[in-house]
Amino acid sequence: MNTKTTVISQAQLDEQFACCDKIAAHWSALGRTPTAYVETYGCQQNEADSEKLRGYLVQCGYAIVGRAEGADVVIMNTCAIREHAEQRVFGNLGALTHTKRRYPEQRIFLCGCMAGERNVSERIKHSYPHVDGVFSTHHLWQFPEILWKVLSKQKRQFYITDEPGSIAEGIPQARDSKLKAWVSIMYGCNNFCTYCIVPYVRGRERSRKPEDILNECRQVIGDGAREITLLGQNVNSYGKDLNSGTDFADLLAAIAQLPGDFLIRFMTSHPRDASEKLFDTMAAYPKIAKQLHLPFQSGSSRVLKAMNRHYDRETYLKKVNYAKSVMPDLVLTSDVIVGFPGETEEEFEETISLIQQVHYDSLFTFIFSPRPGTPAAEMEDLTPREEKNRRFDKLCAVQNAISEQIHLSYVGKTMRCLVDGKDKDLLTARTEGGRLVRFPGCDSLIGSYQNITIQGATTWSLTGILAENV
Ligand code: SAH
Ligand code: SF4
Ligand code: F3S
Repeated sequence: MNTKTTVISQAQLDEQFACCDKIAAHWSALGRTPTAYVETYGCQQNEADSEKLRGYLVQCGYAIVGRAEGADVVIMNTCAIREHAEQRVFGNLGALTHTKRRYPEQRIFLCGCMAGERNVSERIKHSYPHVDGVFSTHHLWQFPEILWKVLSKQKRQFYITDEPGSIAEGIPQARDSKLKAWVSIMYGCNNFCTYCIVPYVRGRERSRKPEDILNECRQVIGDGAREITLLGQNVNSYGKDLNSGTDFADLLAAIAQLPGDFLIRFMTSHPRDASEKLFDTMAAYPKIAKQLHLPFQSGSSRVLKAMNRHYDRETYLKKVNYAKSVMPDLVLTSDVIVGFPGETEEEFEETISLIQQVHYDSLFTFIFSPRPGTPAAEMEDLTPREEKNRRFDKLCAVQNAISEQIHLSYVGKTMRCLVDGKDKDLLTARTEGGRLVRFPGCDSLIGSYQNITIQGATTWSLTGILAENV
């Protein structure tokens, strides 16, 4: 199989911009501003991709709107990580037959991770005739060309060829927030965890050049970003494919030395590749948030082996302990899967004991969902659903108690938080560790860092007041 990364040239991108011009001219000849709606499912990687789709749409003359009804273009940017996520997309896609019946000129597209699955694109081809185009993540950079073909030829378009993946610099981005910016540092994944569909739908790992990433960071800081989140499926293997001598820790250090008042976050770290150098770098720079999302998936070394995770319980715990030793205030979060095929009661209890040992601030918990085409989907799975539900509920109860306990320990502390929005009559802010705080204050504080004294805590969030008012 060809595994070479394709770098999209400026000439190729210019062809896309020429399509944007043709689309804009098409609408101005009709004498009106068209509208577009982009619905995003799944992870931050998809959020970042949707910002690019909106960037292209704006360049084509579209105004971005908040609902599908009446929009000239509707794009569903989908997630394939679990069966439930896919069912939701199919349900919502089916509902679009009604919006299209009321407005037959509407053009509907499906993209994102589900578009990379052959069975999905076939199903859409045959059973969802109201969908005008399907394109996988590899073809996102060609969206203007796809849209132009649909508009000018009135023919459905399927851009779904299986590719190792490309890197396209210079796609316009319409960012959702000026305050918090997503910056993708790499795409794809090489890990092939046995349960996971991502490597199949997003292709091989490929890193952006450090100078391109630094330039984007400079630009978003200049535009007012106070938080930059670096994105990749496995940020710790950043740079391995570039052979430039810059690893993830070096990249973090370089960004942390840029001028400006901002914090850097990143996700996701794979425990196998998380190094002491990374933790030392995090500890050394005040601009790197002391927050680490380090998915462990299971507390049992046997299950971890069956998942193809390439670390065991002991190595994981050793790394966490080192990270905590150099960053005493570290906020730790993680992902965990319950009910992996063959997981015994004892192995599940190992997961519980790991949670109790590490004391995570919060967890993203999932019940194993077989994904067609992945090795785990073929493994014998004799544990009944009710038993998996029971394990899941137990795990959530254990974690909720820990989250609440950690949150209660914040009460009385004063913390520097980024005020990022409003929730009813209170302002919302995030601690350096990413915990949500609600407090009273005037809207003019949104976008600034403030010292907030924590006064109350629940499992999920904190409440406080401005330190100056204590
Ligand atoms: N790249 C990240 C995670 C991406 S997916 C990493 O490696 O950590 C986010 C989370 O979804 C995973 O960490 C895993 O816990 C969960 N997940 C992935 N595939 C799943 C499946 N088939 N069933 C249940 N949960 C799954
Ligand atoms: Fe999926 Fe594993 Fe890659 Fe994460 S590291 S995206 S879980 S294959
Ligand atoms: Fe989902 Fe794709 Fe992200 S499968 S979790 S949107 S990488």
